[in-house]
Parts: sequence; structure tokens; C-alpha cells
Amino acid sequence: MVKDKRGRDLRDLRISLTDKCNMRCKYCMPKEHFDSKHKFLPRSEILDYEEIVLIVNSLIPLGLKKVRLTGGEPLLRKDICELIKMLPEELDIAMTTNGILLEKYAPKLKKSGLKRVTVSLDAIDIETFQAMGDTKETPETVLRGIETARLAGLKVKINTVIRAGYNEHSINKISERFVGSDVIVRFIEFMDVGETNSWNLDEVLTGEQMRKMFESLEMVQPNHNGEVAKRFLHGQQELGFIESVSKPFCGDCNRARLSADGSLFTCLFASVGHDLKAMIRLGATRKDIRDAICTIWESRDDAYSETRSTTNRPKIEMSFIGG
Ligand code: GTP
Ligand code: 5AD
Ligand code: SF4
Ligand code: SF4
Repeated sequence: MVKDKRGRDLRDLRISLTDKCNMRCKYCMPKEHFDSKHKFLPRSEILDYEEIVLIVNSLIPLGLKKVRLTGGEPLLRKDICELIKMLPEELDIAMTTNGILLEKYAPKLKKSGLKRVTVSLDAIDIETFQAMGDTKETPETVLRGIETARLAGLKVKINTVIRAGYNEHSINKISERFVGSDVIVRFIEFMDVGETNSWNLDEVLTGEQMRKMFESLEMVQPNHNGEVAKRFLHGQQELGFIESVSKPFCGDCNRARLSADGSLFTCLFASVGHDLKAMIRLGATRKDIRDAICTIWESRDDAYSETRSTTNRPKIEMSFIGG
């Protein structure tokens, strides 16, 4: 086990498989910045699956329990099922996706060893969905993906980012849509991640404000230490609220992030990462990588969400570092 300067474990590795996405959510990849002139990572800079698995395996003795595949949009990465098959079965293997390609891939993902999928869905009315995602795709495509994933036996959660002035109505609409199913819906406060999404505090609806939209909610205990969502029951339905702006949860943050080009980041709001790819391509062994990550983790002191008002340094984009 390794602990950082605040005594936090390294339990969860989020792996970005690509910096590309087939949507352009305005709060994440606004088209003005992510257009044809944007330089996405060249193929040669992106870790291959053997390199990713080497890093994951190096972390198992340190107490790694969960791997989350993210992007950009991870389902754009070729042969993603091959990577899932290569990951150690003992891990909780999850994915965060926008769901556009999920109908096509869900059964194969499940067969390959994926256990859970979290689908981003900000609205189920077509106008809001297309406006927030800056896309011609439709919510029906995502809903079909979710249904296919459920039928394939994957556990499904929904992530709904709430941006005041855009989609407050989604709080009731999306929770109603999934009443009676085992799908867990989580509402996320709009965060100041990256530098391009024109974040502004006036557009943050806090978890507390969101909860006022329900008649009665009963709080339930977290599933594990470091869980990002506060859990509530609305009748039989589980809802979650991710309140990184109004109630930061850095205190037990056990998440490391690996960018598609092989840098390790110790915080979602980091400015710089630690280049593991260079080490690997010079022939580093599993132990070399483990030792390097131990050193990085032991000097970790991140708690951005607790200090955001006093921090002023450029932040990496979420589409690059992974959710
Ligand atoms: P499980 O609890 O394993 O289902 O997953 P999770 O809640 O860790 O996963 P998910 O990636 O769905 O996280 C939900 C959202 O919470 C992310 O998309 C981010 O918006 C936010 N989030 C996750 N981790 C962090 C974090 O370390 N810091 C901050 N500020 N936000 C986070
Ligand atoms: N604030 C909150 N959540 C965000 N996501 C992306 N950008 C932001 C932001 N600025 C969410 C996505 C997805 C997950 C990867 O992170 O909607 O569910
Ligand atoms: Fe793509 Fe997800 Fe970012 Fe939207 S939030 S642009 S779906 S990576
Ligand atoms: Fe962890 Fe950084 Fe998020 Fe705090 S802001 S919970 S330290 S990733």
C-alpha cells in the first residue's frame, strides 16, 4: 500500500484511451476550441494496450481496486474489448461513455469482462440534448445504448451534469425516466475543469438546490470510502449528487488519472502530469514503474476543490485527462 501526504490510498485508476470525442459538449469540448484546427494526439504518442496493462499490473501490489476507462469517448478507441480482456479480472472494471456507440458494443464489452458502465446523459428532450452536446445525435440513441447495456448484464449509472440556465428540468425528467429500473442516476455540479468551458459560478446549481426539486429524499451510507456521489433514496430509486464545487470531497480522494499519452496525473485539476510513457519506451519494468508511481504518490498533496478560490494555475482539459 502507498499513501500520499494526506494519508490517502491509491485505489482507483482512470485511464483515458483517447482525447477524441464524437460529441462537443459545450461544458467540456466547446467547438470554438475543439475544431478542425485543434491538434489531437498523434497515434504514435498514444499508449498501446500492452503499455496500459503494464502500468495497471504495476499498481496491483499497491492496492489498486478499480480501473475506469474514459476519454474523450473511449468507445472510439479501436479494439477496446481486447484491452478489457487483458486487464486483471480481480479489478472492478468500469467505463464512462457518452453512450452513442453503446448499443453496438455493450454485449461485446460485457463478454470481454467489463462490469459497469456510466453513461453521460444531460437531457432526454432532443432540444436540450442537442444544445448541450452541440450535436446532431439524439437522446434516443443513448437510451437504446443504456437499455442494451442493462440487458447485456452491465450495471448502469447515468451522469447528468446540471448547468443552470440550460437543463435544470433534467433533474426531474431523467430521474422519472429511470424510476422502477436498477439504473442509478447521479447529478453533477458544473465544475471549473479545464480552461475552455467558460465556467462561471452563476451557472452552478448546488446539490442542495437540486435536492429541493424532490419531495422527499432519504440519505444512505456511502458504498466505500472516497465515493464521489452522495447517495439518496427517492422511494425505491437511488439518486446521487456529485458536489465537487459546493462540498469538495478531496479528503479521501484515492484517484489517479492516466492520460492517453501516458502521463500520470494526481488530480483532475492538475496542470502537469508525470511522463510514464518515456520510462516504458526506454524499457522500464513493472517494478521500475511501481517505484516511480510510489514516489509520485508519496509526494501528492492535491486538494484542488478545497482550495479552488486561491489556486490560479492553468488546468488540463477533462477530455484529455478523463473524467
Ligand atoms: P463509481 O462510484 O465507481 O460508480 O464511479 P465514480 O463515481 O467514481 O465515477 P464517475 O467517473 O462516473 O464519476 C462521476 C463524476 O464525478 C465524474 O465524471 C466527474 O465529473 C466527478 N468526479 C469523479 N472523480 C472526481 C474527482 O476526483 N474530483 C472531482 N472534482 N470530480 C470528480
Ligand atoms: N463539470 C462537471 N462534469 C463534467 N463532465 C465533463 N465536463 C464537466 C464539467 N465541466 C462530466 C461528463 C461525464 C464525465 C466524464 O464528466 O458529463 O459524465
Ligand atoms: Fe465528449 Fe464526454 Fe466531453 Fe461530452 S463530456 S464532449 S461526451 S468527453
Ligand atoms: Fe481528488 Fe483533485 Fe478531485 Fe480533489 S479536486 S477530489 S484531489 S481529483
